[in-house]
Amino acid sequence: MLSTSQLASPLHILRWFLKTKLAWKLSGISLTTSLLATKGYTSFTRYREDSRNFALRLRSYLKPTDTVLDFGCGIGGYAFEVSKFCKVVVGIDINEFYIRLAKKLYAKKANKVKFYWYNGDNIPFNDCSFDMIYVHAVFERIPKTSVEKYLKEFWRILRPNGKLLADFLREEASDSDFVSLLGPDAYIFWSEWELINVLAKSGFRVQNLIKTSEKFIVFAINIKSLNMK
Ligand SMILES: C[S@@+](CC[C@H](N)C(=O)[O-])C[C@H]1O[C@@H](n2cnc3c(N)ncnc32)[C@H](O)[C@@H]1O
Repeated sequence: MLSTSQLASPLHILRWFLKTKLAWKLSGISLTTSLLATKGYTSFTRYREDSRNFALRLRSYLKPTDTVLDFGCGIGGYAFEVSKFCKVVVGIDINEFYIRLAKKLYAKKANKVKFYWYNGDNIPFNDCSFDMIYVHAVFERIPKTSVEKYLKEFWRILRPNGKLLADFLREEASDSDFVSLLGPDAYIFWSEWELINVLAKSGFRVQNLIKTSEKFIVFAINIKSLNMK
């Protein structure tokens, strides 16, 4: 616990400033939102466990020869774990600081993961580059028109019959504990109908749609033939 004198000291104020600045840089969202978001942070051990469990669930969808994209990879733990079950995982993120951390934490110890910063506009890969794309805990903060734009890009960079696994916040989750962390204004909610519609419009056929209390977890295949590229 800090004493009142420590609280008021210039050193404490400097530390507080550096910490909040770091939280802001880490999140890639506004300072106020990221300060609130840090309340949701648990521990690195928990992050590692979540990454491992996610990779184990994804394993049945993967082949050892697959090239996989982790869209919105954050600090890279999920990509690192998933890479154990495929040929390579490429992680991209709009937050440069996360990408730098991901490279430090994971890319040095595994040559099956690669991380790139990109500017959030066009996804910087050639047509038909990937067998699978997964998106974990990203689309809940991205406006629907942008999600649609990204889905179309996913269609382009996936090979024919390429797989997409993504999660979306259900509209029923607007008063859940998770949402109360930042408040409903910070999130984007989807109805089942909207989701199926936007996936179909972007060239995907839904194979499986799992409903948890908060999320839709969608597994879809792109509909495209080799001569369409
Ligand atoms: C809650 S984090 C999830 C990170 C990671 N997928 C995971 O599950 O640990 C959301 C991530 O999405 C990234 N992000 C937000 N908008 C994005 C965009 N338009 N394109 C790519 N990444 C984005 C953020 O920078 C952040 O790393």
